[in-house]
Amino acid sequence: MPITEITTNSSQETKKVGMELAAAIKKDRVNPRRALVVALEGDLGSGKTTFIQGLATGLGIKENVLSPTFVIQKDFPLSLKNYKNFYHIDAYRLKNPKELLELGFKDLIRNPENLIVIEWADKVKKILPKEILKIKFTNLEKNKRKIIIYS
Ligand SMILES: Nc1ncnc2c1ncn2[C@@H]1O[C@H](COP(=O)(O)OP(=O)(O)OP(=O)(O)O)[C@@H](O)[C@H]1O
Ligand SMILES: [Mg+2]
Repeated sequence: MPITEITTNSSQETKKVGMELAAAIKKDRVNPRRALVVALEGDLGSGKTTFIQGLATGLGIKENVLSPTFVIQKDFPLSLKNYKNFYHIDAYRLKNPKELLELGFKDLIRNPENLIVIEWADKVKKILPKEILKIKFTNLEKNKRKIIIYS
């Protein structure tokens, strides 16, 4: 079910939406027994990485978060009460969800201290837990993007 639909008019605005999600994530947790998985879907250039940059800033990550296209997975430490590790995964280049399982994905989603954000999450849909926070990005005009958050 869509819970929010937002149209942004610049990458800065998309980062701000990411920062707002960070504030909400810091406040409470969805499931205290598992990792939080944020699944991002949307075309090339629709703003997924840009959004994650805002999210990361909001979570206190100082390092610049880039697209992890060539490494598939990158982790950052968090010093929050609820989450201790931030994993940024880009599934774009995966040919099979199994490749993510080979990187230890099952253990990642079991650890309640992990916050896992996945770009091109539809490519690994089969192995995602049932409870996820799904966010869809759509290219509208040049600098306009639609962001829909599902629960
Ligand atoms: N409203 C907007 N929100 C987000 N990005 C925007 C917006 N308007 C323009 N842009 C530009 O669009 C591009 C979005 O790129 P970004 O890497 O975030 O997309 P992506 O969805 O991660 O793409 P990919 O699938 O290739 O990883 C950036 O160059 C950004 O500056
Ligand atoms: Mg990206």
